[in-house]
Amino acid sequence: MDREAESFTDQPPVLAIDGPSGAGKGTVAKAVVEALGWHFLDSGALYRLTGLYCQRCGVDPDDVGRAAGLASELPASFRVVDGNEQVWLGNEEVSGELRTEATGALASRVAVLQPVRDALLQRQRDFRRPPGLVADGRDMGTVVFPDAPVKIFLTATAEERARRRYKQLKDQGANVSLASLSEEIAERDRRDASRATAPLKPAPDAETLDTTGIAVTEVVEQVLQRVEVYLRQASAHL
Ligand code: C5P
Repeated sequence: MDREAESFTDQPPVLAIDGPSGAGKGTVAKAVVEALGWHFLDSGALYRLTGLYCQRCGVDPDDVGRAAGLASELPASFRVVDGNEQVWLGNEEVSGELRTEATGALASRVAVLQPVRDALLQRQRDFRRPPGLVADGRDMGTVVFPDAPVKIFLTATAEERARRRYKQLKDQGANVSLASLSEEIAERDRRDASRATAPLKPAPDAETLDTTGIAVTEVVEQVLQRVEVYLRQASAHL
């Protein structure tokens, strides 16, 4: 089957948004979810939860066998309480702790382990339900949903990404410094891009959007346009 015919399957459509930390994936993905009424997969949250779960259970996040075992039984749940999104690990609410840079660093350590990635693969694919899915991560377009009909690789300069993350964490009341955050992000990007398994890189059929200096609303508009083009083509194909 050629690539074009392949993209018009009866599977719910997926918009894959990949890219480095702080590129604005989460913000853009949520706005697109809102506009389209599609489901949302925050795949980074699953790696963050796995890292936290290792910590809670006293398991070294570099211990492949035990980390993969915990990933496969991850007692995670996503709830909306009084309009607020909450993430739970077992009977503990971990929404705040999940977003810290320390948890991001733990996540990127467990994320280099292939058995951990394998353990989380089906769980991520299960998010694909009608009317469609917006999937945010590092390997959405390359590994988890290689048949996603719309793939975007969002990026921005390292300085801009660090500044955005700084603002986001400050707004959440975190006590962080821009200099140390820049270093932590650079370290995480290095680990994510150089790992042997599912390294951070655009899928060959992804479109790269550099968001440096571009307002979020403009980026959202551009992404929505790509999805609308696809949906028009798909309905003409029926
Ligand atoms: O996107 P977020 O910052 O929440 O991701 C945390 C970490 O989880 C990333 O730095 C990366 O190491 C890992 N990750 C991954 N594959 C994904 C999503 C996240 O390896 N699809």
